[in-house]
Amino acid sequence: MKVLLVNGSPHKKGCTWTALSEVAKTLKKEGIESEIFWIGIKPLAGCTACRTCVKTGRCMFDDTVNEFLDIAKDADGYIFGSPVHYAAASGALTSFMDRVFYTDMLAGRQIFYLKPAAAVVSARRAGTTATFDQINKYFTISEMPVISSRYWNMVHGAQPADVEKDEEGLQTMRVLARNMAFFLKCKEAGLKAGVQLPVREERVFTNFIRD
Ligand SMILES: Cc1cc2nc3c(=O)[nH]c(=O)nc-3n(C[C@H](O)[C@H](O)[C@H](O)COP(=O)(O)O)c2cc1C
Repeated sequence: MKVLLVNGSPHKKGCTWTALSEVAKTLKKEGIESEIFWIGIKPLAGCTACRTCVKTGRCMFDDTVNEFLDIAKDADGYIFGSPVHYAAASGALTSFMDRVFYTDMLAGRQIFYLKPAAAVVSARRAGTTATFDQINKYFTISEMPVISSRYWNMVHGAQPADVEKDEEGLQTMRVLARNMAFFLKCKEAGLKAGVQLPVREERVFTNFIRD
């Protein structure tokens, strides 16, 4: 089993990466493979609502969003990490996640369906819980079980060396990884034992219009 860890920071090996690496190390100890996927520093456009993905199954901007969608379909779980930028997720990660999840939905790929997910955030000081809430909203609209830890998944620091000293933050990452591993093993065991995936209803899409 494999978990994809997304680094939504402009720093390839910064504070967010340091937190994700602690998750990756612990997943390995639990027998779960992982890969850190960096969204990069090239400008990432937001979703233009062009709906190209309905026809092609891919985003019309051929960048790390399509690269990610191609490998994400084979992953069993996901962790999306972001630095806090003005008390929110980084603009790049927001554009990235908007396009990843919109393409997945409109193209009918359903690659995230009932796969566990978690958000990890890194801040020098504040804005962590708002960012955590923001990222979790992508999961809870996509039928993804959200894996939690012993605290909200955050680390603090301006530099990776600061994060290394954030003992509680790193412990939160390790607990998160073990809980993710436990869930993945339970899901696998359940499916092997014959537990069926839930019956799916046709989507009702009303825009609040009644008649
Ligand atoms: C544009 C920008 C905005 C930021 N806004 C905040 C903020 O609102 N709150 C905060 O605590 N840190 C803020 N920071 C600092 C980073 O969130 C923090 O240093 C983070 O741990 C860096 O992670 P990284 O090394 O993975 O990029 C900001 C940094 C940048 C570049």
